[in-house]
Amino acid sequence: MAPFIFVCAQQATTPQEPASEQVFKNIQVFKGVPANDLIPSMEFMAASLKIECTGCHDGQDYAKDTQTKGVARKMILMQRDINAKNFNNRNQVTCNTCHGGKENPAGTPFPTGVSLRHERLNPAPNTADLFAKHIASAGTQDGPIVRTGTLTAPNDATHKIETLPLEFIQAPGGKFRMVAGERKVMSNGTQTTYGTYPMAGEPAFVFNRIGRTWYGADTFATLERPTVSGKDTIGKAQVVVVRATSPTTSSTQELSFDTKSNLLIRMVNVRRSSLGNVVSSIDYSNCRKVGGMQVPMKVVVTFAGDEQWIMDFKTAKIDPSIAGSTFGG
Ligand code: HEC
Ligand code: HEC
Repeated sequence: MAPFIFVCAQQATTPQEPASEQVFKNIQVFKGVPANDLIPSMEFMAASLKIECTGCHDGQDYAKDTQTKGVARKMILMQRDINAKNFNNRNQVTCNTCHGGKENPAGTPFPTGVSLRHERLNPAPNTADLFAKHIASAGTQDGPIVRTGTLTAPNDATHKIETLPLEFIQAPGGKFRMVAGERKVMSNGTQTTYGTYPMAGEPAFVFNRIGRTWYGADTFATLERPTVSGKDTIGKAQVVVVRATSPTTSSTQELSFDTKSNLLIRMVNVRRSSLGNVVSSIDYSNCRKVGGMQVPMKVVVTFAGDEQWIMDFKTAKIDPSIAGSTFGG
């Protein structure tokens, strides 16, 4: 690597530490910084972004300006500014703090395996067709569906993962009741409660979603402005992704349809906040036919921060005798 040799030779012959601009050809932000600091700083930037020197430089001429060099200069000034204003000039916030080994830092914490970037799909299928195909493939049902099994989730108080017996009843109109040990989440279709408390914000939204999903047209009833955002893979499944944006709830939802089965296998919810996006996902799998309807026997909810509620159902049946009052309200 030519620049290293060059710098070493300069240092050996100059006792009074020349500034970078005296040694190098095209220096703007390292003006006044000792020349022997330049290469270590370059190594620091390359390591923080996990890129080669040539990720920023023209390999033939390191003095030549490139677009990335221009961005890096701005970033260097920003780093100095942040640390001067907030950390008494200590290097507390660095390239690595934000980039952490990536060229593009992630502003949003994503649950593992969840992404909002998809491959373009041309021509894009019609969203109404995708919804209709899901309903046709899953089948429909008028009566309440009762599923029992287990819930594996962190304990509210101790945060230790525990497995509890679970009963989940789902009825038309987004009504549901989920009981697992002491936990009781239910909705009358409009208000979701956790125990005796009304649920608000993102968790309420996620449970509301679970309550209305996979139940015929209810699944898609509240979606606003759906459009196809691309194709992707989830595990081994090829999926088409539909995005729906809701200005009223400040949230965006993404629905992934398995191209083989036509079934909805993932819902991702992105809730905007003034500081950034909160992303959660619900995965549906292991379908079983119950009274003319395919019912997912595994439902995995992954909240922002990667906490998971894993529902493993063992039994499923239709029970028309369940009363409306079961769901509160
Ligand atoms: C993130 C982008 C980035 C990476 C990666 C990077 N550089 Fe630089 N490099 C710069 C910028 C910006 C400057 C100009 C600094 C200034 O304006 O004061 C520069 C200047 C230089 C110069 C001075 C050239 C001259 O004569 O003006 C040398 C030599 C150099 N880099 C070597 C390296 C080496 C070696 C590596 C790999 C270890 C490297 N750089 C990695 C952004 C980068
Ligand atoms: C406070 C957080 C933060 C710090 C510190 C920071 N960056 Fe960045 N950097 C970002 C963000 C955010 C972007 C993406 C901007 C965008 O997409 O418009 C970015 C983008 C870049 C890019 C463009 C990447 C691309 O492929 O388009 C380069 C190069 C870069 N930073 C280099 C650096 C270097 C070198 C440092 C350290 C001197 C640094 N950054 C420090 C947040 C930071």
